[in-house]
Amino acid sequence: MSFIDFEDVTFAYTPVEGDLDAEGKQIIPPVLFDHFTASLPSSFVSIVGPNACGKSTLMLLASGRLKPIRGTIRLFGKDLSTIHDENEKNLLSSFIYQNMEFEQDEKLADLLMQVYEAGGHAQKSGDFYKDIISVFELSSITARKLNGLSKGEIQRTLLAFSVLYGSKSIFMDEPMFAMEQKQKESCLDFLKHYSKEKGIPVYISMHELELSRKYAQDVLLIYPNRDMTFGSPDEVLVPEDLEKAYGIPAVLLKDSENLTRKNLKELSEQTVQNT
Ligand SMILES: Nc1ncnc2c1ncn2[C@@H]1O[C@H](COP(=O)(O)OP(=O)(O)O)[C@@H](O)[C@H]1O
Ligand SMILES: [Mg+2]
Repeated sequence: MSFIDFEDVTFAYTPVEGDLDAEGKQIIPPVLFDHFTASLPSSFVSIVGPNACGKSTLMLLASGRLKPIRGTIRLFGKDLSTIHDENEKNLLSSFIYQNMEFEQDEKLADLLMQVYEAGGHAQKSGDFYKDIISVFELSSITARKLNGLSKGEIQRTLLAFSVLYGSKSIFMDEPMFAMEQKQKESCLDFLKHYSKEKGIPVYISMHELELSRKYAQDVLLIYPNRDMTFGSPDEVLVPEDLEKAYGIPAVLLKDSENLTRKNLKELSEQTVQNT
């Protein structure tokens, strides 16, 4: 059985009142998905593609955080439009939003435990909890308050939440950009095994093509016109398709990736300084 089913889905963002173009006319966001039908399997998937190709929107739709204008989206065979209970939705899929921040001044340890206890793991074990704290390198900061964490620490905390909560599936929108390379690798390595051993689909959007190649079981490459290629990293991350998606020669992509990462790092440092 497939994990995500899009059936004849049409989606556009809602116009924002007061969003006017140069001539003072209301801006109507374009249709992003037009009679879109696709089935995606339970797997450990990296979603890649150039900025604005629709990675975030696809995941928000697939997890029921955005609703289509027309058509049906099913997760594990369940029509998402029939789920009205937030808890039920969260237990079906967790979502790590891009650039999430904490405002609470609760201690990290308290919230980690609350998340674990409230979640969907059938059997809770102290060892699993300790493993998660260790994998995401949180042991030295569990006494800290949530609103005092750095961007990288927030991202590691969110990854821990998503695993401790024990949803049947996890979506993550660029969840690691502020982390160090070594931490990204150990997190991806853990998530890959977690996904496989527990049979939990994990879909992660990210910029890093090399990490996708190294860790993902499957890759979903989205083109600017929202065509997509899905398959193993070796099948999908080939020069021809990457050039088609990113519009530049594949040999240059490694540099552009570093550039993106550098920009994001600078941006995240500014954000942290400003808060
Ligand atoms: N809240 C929104 N309102 C209007 N347009 C949006 C909104 N969020 C994203 N978009 C537009 O939808 C397109 C797809 O965006 P997104 O899914 O965020 O792409 P990606 O995650 O691949 O960068 C882009 O053109 C983006 O500008
Ligand atoms: Mg995005």
